[in-house]
Amino acid sequence: MRFSAVFSALAVVATGVSAANFSANSISSAIALTSSNHYGAPIPPWKVGHHPGWYYGNGSPPSGINAIEIHSQIICELLELFPFCLQCPKPPPPPPHNPPPHNPPPPPEYSQTFYNLTCASQDASYQTYGLVDTIADCQAMCDSVAGCTFFNTYHDVNGKDGSTQLTCALFEKCLDASSADNCGGQTQYDGSVDYIIQSDGYCKKTPTAY
Ligand SMILES: *[C@@H]1O[C@H](CO)[C@@H](O)[C@H](O)[C@H]1NC(C)=O
Ligand SMILES: *[C@@H]1O[C@H](CO)[C@@H](O)[C@H](O)[C@H]1NC(C)=O
Repeated sequence: MRFSAVFSALAVVATGVSAANFSANSISSAIALTSSNHYGAPIPPWKVGHHPGWYYGNGSPPSGINAIEIHSQIICELLELFPFCLQCPKPPPPPPHNPPPHNPPPPPEYSQTFYNLTCASQDASYQTYGLVDTIADCQAMCDSVAGCTFFNTYHDVNGKDGSTQLTCALFEKCLDASSADNCGGQTQYDGSVDYIIQSDGYCKKTPTAY
């Protein structure tokens, strides 16, 4: 039996869907979302020609952006067939019904290292970037990408196509304000020059597990 046949048989047992339920196009988009391909965003956002690898949120991504939407159940099920690819964030576990009394809440997992800058982080530990609706969405993405230790959210304002979404960039190293030296200035297709606002950085105590 060929490996792929074994693989889809196992996948059906695990999730109830198989690769046969998806179009060839959606499968090829999904299997491009690997760490070696920076989960679909191989060019980091400070280099010319970059584009987001994915969109995670409740709305729809801006048109004309070729990013896979990783919030729909069908895409999430597809990605689960390829465990080495980007996975949809999992909802947090429900809080315990009867929390033990006098237990101090756990310390927050993330601490903010910078706030409201007009430049975005650049670092060799870049993992991937995409678009999100909220800072919490970006944190959820960091929590679902192995090795993620830091995320940077910002508005990349460019010309007439300026979107309301936040850019969400993930890194393996905890970064501070000194990393934020991508201050925009890239000429866009429409001739306008982009700039960056509301850039926030959050560092995670423990990198996301592999
Ligand atoms: C997936 O496809 C198989 C047949 O290829 C079908 O039996 C099954 O119902 C499909 N599952 C879903 C969730 O669509
Ligand atoms: C964020 O920075 C901009 C200018 O860089 C400033 O106009 C704005 O008031 C700041 N916002 C907050 C909430 O500090």
